Amino acid sequence: KRIAIFASGSGSNAEKICSYFEGRTDVEVSLILTNNPQAGVIARARKFHIPSVVFDRKSFYESEKILDLLKNQKIDFIVLAGFMMLIPPFLVEAYPGKMVNIHPALLPKYGGKGMYGHFVHEAVVAAGERESGITIHFVNEFYDEGNIIFQASCEITPTDSPDDVASKVQVLEHAHYPEVIDKVITESTR
Ligand code: GRF
Repeated sequence: KRIAIFASGSGSNAEKICSYFEGRTDVEVSLILTNNPQAGVIARARKFHIPSVVFDRKSFYESEKILDLLKNQKIDFIVLAGFMMLIPPFLVEAYPGKMVNIHPALLPKYGGKGMYGHFVHEAVVAAGERESGITIHFVNEFYDEGNIIFQASCEITPTDSPDDVASKVQVLEHAHYPEVIDKVITESTR
C-alpha cells in the first residue's frame, strides 16, 4: 500500500509516520505534498528520501492535477498531518474511506474552520477544560466532521498554558497516529 502525506507546516507528525513505516514492505510513504514552499516537512521528507511536491491553491482547487499525480503514483491512502486546507470534494470522493486526518482536540468540540493549531489550545485553556487530546478521523468534505476512528485524552491542569497543552497533545499525536494509520490500512486490505 502506498501512502501520500499532505502537510502544511513543520511535519513532525509526517516524520513520525515516515520512520514508523520505514523498512516495511507492505506499506510505504511514497509521496509528501505541501501547499507551503517553506514547510519544514520538505526537509523531513528529504531525510527519508521521499519525494515531495509543492502545489499552489489554484492547482489544488481548480484542476485535478493533484489527483492525477496521486493516481499515476499509485497512491492508495491519503494522510493529512497538519494540512491547513479543505480537501476539494473530487479528491475526497476519489479516496472513500482512504483519507484520514488528525485534529489536536477532542472532536466534536473545538473543531471546524479556523480551529487549528494553536487556536485550538488557546480556546481549550480559555474555556477552562480539564482535558484535551487528539481525534483521528476519516475525512469528508466538511472540516473535521468525518467518522471518528480514534481518540486519546490528556489532563489539563489549572496552571497549563496553551503551549503546555500543545506539547501534551503532540505527545499523543506522535504516539498514536502512525499505528492508527497502520491499523486502518491493514484492516482495509483484509
Ligand atoms: C498538529 O497539531 C496536528 O494535530 C494538526 O496540525 C499540527 C501538525 O503539526 N493537524 P506537525 O506539522 O505535524 O508538527
